[in-house]
Parts: sequence; C-alpha cells; structure tokens
Amino acid sequence: MASKGSVTFNILAATAALVVANVIRMRVLPIDFKSKNVLEYPNESLYNFTELANRYGYHSEEHTVVTEDGYILNVFRINSGNCDGRMKGPPVVLMHGLLLSSDAWLDAGPEAGLAYLLADSCYDLWVGNQRGNYYARRHLTLNPDKDPSFWDFSIDEIGFYDIPATIDYVLRNTGFGKLNYIGYSQGAGTFFVMCSERPGYCNKVNVVIGLAPAARQTHTKSMAYRLLATGISALEDPLSQSGFREIFSKTSPLQEIAKFICQVRFLSEPLCGNFISGFFDSYHPGSITNRTLGMMFSHFPAGTSLHTMARYGQSMQTDQFQKFDYGAARNMKKYGCKEPPKYNLSSVTPPMVILYGRNDHLVDTKDVYWLVNELPNVLEVEEVADPLWNHFDVAYSQYVNQRIFPTVYKYLEHFSTT
Ligand SMILES: *[C@@H]1O[C@H](CO)[C@@H](O)[C@H](O)[C@H]1NC(C)=O
Ligand SMILES: *[C@@H]1O[C@H](CO)[C@@H](O)[C@H](O)[C@H]1NC(C)=O
Ligand SMILES: *[C@@H]1O[C@H](CO)[C@@H](O)[C@H](O)[C@H]1NC(C)=O
Ligand SMILES: *[C@@H]1O[C@H](CO)[C@@H](O)[C@H](O)[C@H]1NC(C)=O
Repeated sequence: MASKGSVTFNILAATAALVVANVIRMRVLPIDFKSKNVLEYPNESLYNFTELANRYGYHSEEHTVVTEDGYILNVFRINSGNCDGRMKGPPVVLMHGLLLSSDAWLDAGPEAGLAYLLADSCYDLWVGNQRGNYYARRHLTLNPDKDPSFWDFSIDEIGFYDIPATIDYVLRNTGFGKLNYIGYSQGAGTFFVMCSERPGYCNKVNVVIGLAPAARQTHTKSMAYRLLATGISALEDPLSQSGFREIFSKTSPLQEIAKFICQVRFLSEPLCGNFISGFFDSYHPGSITNRTLGMMFSHFPAGTSLHTMARYGQSMQTDQFQKFDYGAARNMKKYGCKEPPKYNLSSVTPPMVILYGRNDHLVDTKDVYWLVNELPNVLEVEEVADPLWNHFDVAYSQYVNQRIFPTVYKYLEHFSTT
C-alpha cells in the first residue's frame, strides 16, 4: 500500500505535469482551417461569437471594455433579428464561469443556448468576458506572453475590476441607470466580490440571477477537481517562479488534443462525454448532445491564471468566502491583518434569485444553502427540477429551455419594461 506521503507526492507530481502541459502555448500543433475541414471538424466550431450568432440569424455587436487597471475585455451585444424596435429594457448582462468565455452561451445551439433564448425574448443582451480568457487576453501596457504580472489576478481582481467595468460600460452605452445581471458560477461569485469591495455598484443592478453561484467551495464533491485545484494551490509559488502563470489556455497542447478528439465524431461521444462526467463525477446521460460536446471543447477551457486556480484550491480548504490567503506575513503587508479578510455577503443588497442543481459536484448544495443564509435579499431559491442537473448543464444541456429558462425569464420580465 502506498503511504500517504507518496500519494501526496504523486498528486503533486501529476498536477505539476498537467500544469506544465497546459501552460505551454504551442504554436506547432494548432491545425489550420483547411486541415480541420478535411478532418470534418464541424465548421461552426471554428467560428467566433459574432460569426456563430450571425450563422443563426442573430446580430452581434463587438465592444471592448477597458478596466481601471488596463485589461481589455470583449463584450458582445447580441440580438435577434425579430425584435427590431421593440427591445426590452433595462439591458441584461450575462457572465460566464471559470475557464469559459462568452461562447459557452452559444455552444448548445439556438434551441438551448441561453444567449439565444434571451435574445429571442427581446432582451438587450450583453455577454461579458473575464480577464485571462481568449477574448480578454489583452492589456493596455502588459503583454500576456511576456509580462508575468498580466497573470497576477484571481476572482478577487475580476470582481473588483472586470464586473464593475462591464456594468459601467453597458449603462453608459444604453443610457440606463440600472441593469439586470445573470451570473453563472464564477460569474456570480465575482458579482458578490464587487458588492463587497465596490460600495454603490450593487445599486446599479435591479435583480441578480445566480446560476449555480460559486462563493465558497467547502463541500465541492468532485475529487478530480479538488485534487487539481488544491494541488495547484500547493505548487503555485514554485510554478509561477518558473514562469508558469497562464493555465488551460485555448491554444495549449492539451486543449488542442481535447478539441481534436471531441470534434472527430466517432471519438467524441465515448471519450468526451465520459471525460466530463468522469472528471466532475456527476453523470447526466444524454443531457449534453454530441453536437454540443464538439462545440464545447472548441471553446473550453478558455484560459485563466494559475493564481485563479490556486484561489479555488484555497476556497475548498476553508469554510469562508474570503480573499486570497498569502500566508500571515504577506497578508499583513497586503491586508493589514494576518488572516485574509472575508467578503461581506450582507452587501449583496439587490434582490437575488438562485438556481442550483442537486447533482452539481462543483458548487455543492451545502455551499449553496450556506450562501443563501448569508445573503440578505434572496427572492427565490430553486432546485432545478431534475435530480441529475449538474454544473455543466447550466450552459450546455439540451434542456436549458425547459429547466432553467422559465425562472430566468419570469424574473427578468418582472424587472423589465417593454
Ligand atoms: C466548411 O467551410 C468550408 C470553407 O468555408 C467549406 O468549403 C465547406 O464546404 C464547409 N463545410 C460544411 C460542411 O459546411
Ligand atoms: C470574429 O470574426 C469576424 C469575422 O471574421 C471578425 O471581423 C471579428 O473581428 C472577430 N471578432 C473577434 C472578437 O475576434
Ligand atoms: C452520440 O453518438 C453516439 C455514437 O455515435 C450515439 O451512440 C449516441 O446515441 C449519441 N448521443 C446522442 C445524445 O445523440
Ligand atoms: C457589510 O455590508 C452591510 C451592507 O452594506 C453593512 O451594513 C455592514 O456594515 C458591512 N459589514 C462590514 C463588516 O463591513
């Protein structure tokens, strides 16, 4: 039998190998458009947000938001060709989760992708991106390939800068004083960070819809995800000192291989579907179609910083929703106290609607109940009426329209005018 020490060593070694394989941005492997066609990649998997939206008859405007600390984020405003002149207000911001991008909301196709469904209902929809993914890998002065400090961020900074900048941009462009916000997982967690750290910003929002909202991760059940994040958390210093700062980027070799396997039809169903449910340890047979799997792996993982993954590793080892823990000495310097400060969830004052899945092994139901208890203004908490509903279903299930859209629509309608 292996001793506990050697198991830990093996996990750390495996994590280090995975990280290294994922941080190198390999320029050799990426297969060009022509060979992809020969290999029968679905054409759509090569499209960007705007091209995809156009392909299905939607209109997409490309905007760029610049944050106070210089990050440049693409934001897409999508609307259905059928709504001309009768767009509902106020605008709606839709924000993705960890390792995703705006494209996640299109991957399930027009019948199930939340961006399409919202646009069909004539909301003025703005789909955001968070720093570090392939639509937000730019900065006014820093070069993500050369300046390590580009990658010095986690959800603490995303919540402090990216979410407020996106909200301000959308309000300025539409002339509204308030908007409605939908956040999936990290897209909701970063909203809470904003409320806590940027007084006043919460007042710019009428209603927040949290889809599998990620605050603390104390009870995350997925063992693979837990080991990966805690392993990275343990190895963050040596890895980042060796220059590994960016992780799971779209052009890393592992992502290219995943993309390849998941888009060549005869490999995709047996390997990709099982990988997702196996890795995240929550099966929901048939929920994500074969076509969506191919699309999903052409956009996922979308890239983030090693520091963000380390931050998640920490959040699985505490029962608080708090800032990054640098250790007593560095905390003292940065925060003026030995323990990392807790986020003030009482500051999340807008009415809040929460949808969660019983089979979600990333954002566990216990952590959702804890969060609900901490939040001061919860309008409704709904367990999705499908016992197998898991974390990925929010973006990718073919049943989004039946399972979560009715509640999303109900509350948006309530807080909108025509
Ligand atoms: C995919 O796009 C290529 C190049 O635009 C085109 O030649 C090909 O016919 C398309 N394939 C399908 C299946 O639409
Ligand atoms: C998406 O593709 C279109 C058409 O090829 C291009 O004009 C646009 O700049 C692309 N958008 C982004 C954000 O990459
Ligand atoms: C996906 O493809 C596999 C293999 O081709 C097939 O057995 C399966 O039924 C398909 N699944 C769905 C949901 O269409
Ligand atoms: C948390 O936020 C609430 C609401 O804004 C405020 O009343 C309270 O004083 C804050 N608590 C702390 C510890 O800052």
